[in-house]
Amino acid sequence: MAAPTPLTSSAVDARGWRLAMGLRPLAPEYWLEVDANRDAELARKYELLARERSTVLALTGEGEDACTELLEEVTASLRRYHPGVVVELDEFEHPLVAASRLVQEDLCVLERDDEWRLVAACVCFPSRWNLAEKIGTSLDAIHSPVPGYDESLAAPTRKVFDRLEPDKSFWRLNWTLLDNADLFQPGARVPGESAPEDWFFRVERQTIRRLARSRAVVFTIRTYVSALSSLLGDEEFTENLLRALRGAPLSTREYKGWGDIAERLAARIGR
Ligand code: HEM
Repeated sequence: MAAPTPLTSSAVDARGWRLAMGLRPLAPEYWLEVDANRDAELARKYELLARERSTVLALTGEGEDACTELLEEVTASLRRYHPGVVVELDEFEHPLVAASRLVQEDLCVLERDDEWRLVAACVCFPSRWNLAEKIGTSLDAIHSPVPGYDESLAAPTRKVFDRLEPDKSFWRLNWTLLDNADLFQPGARVPGESAPEDWFFRVERQTIRRLARSRAVVFTIRTYVSALSSLLGDEEFTENLLRALRGAPLSTREYKGWGDIAERLAARIGR
């Protein structure tokens, strides 16, 4: 199975814009990613959990056993695959918060009744959406603002969730452009108007994994942000990005809050 992806040029499909699941098999050693930003990102989580707790944490009271199991899995994975990381548990915290304080990933727990529902989540680094609006709702409802999700992704996503097994996990990438570098971006997507130099390329590396004991599904989101200006020297990336921005349907461009960034980027690089 593949090693962690370099998270810039490879995130944009060279074949142009497409709405796809793009799931790839995930080996256990690559579930969590640890890098040089760990201390800073965990400090940010700490601050957000203190000051913006109701924005970044949502618990329904369901999925408690799954959260305990998730904490066990996170500590086991760090100890086994990232032995350099100090694992200090906050025993007085909810297990989901304790787990979240250990990793750069955002953590979501889903359980199935008639549908897969988000029952517990700690999301400190949302890309312009509000956790409070999603908690307790189904995969379909969570994705209701996403153009094309209903027609192309809803059924296959449901099927993948139903068929997940603890030894068969997956990862996928999602990317966008935003006019703000902050990792913590709750709220709505409003069209950005600044010059391409002031935009940021934001990649989410997402994983889905079934827990063995509780049978819940854990969805992780790891967010990487790079200044767009730092990437424009990579010609292949810039070509692919422009092709994707131009090829995306208007509904997607509006949903993403891209404004006329495609036109301004084309003008900036002379295409
Ligand atoms: C294989 C599974 C999944 C697929 C294929 C998928 C696909 C997508 C896509 C294509 C988008 C649009 C993002 C963009 O273009 O910027 C999206 C947005 C989103 N997804 Fe997923 N997703 C999956 C699983 C999940 C799960 C398990 C959650 C649970 C928390 C989730 C939460 C969200 C949220 C909150 C958004 C933003 C929606 C909004 O703008 O209000 N996704 N997803």
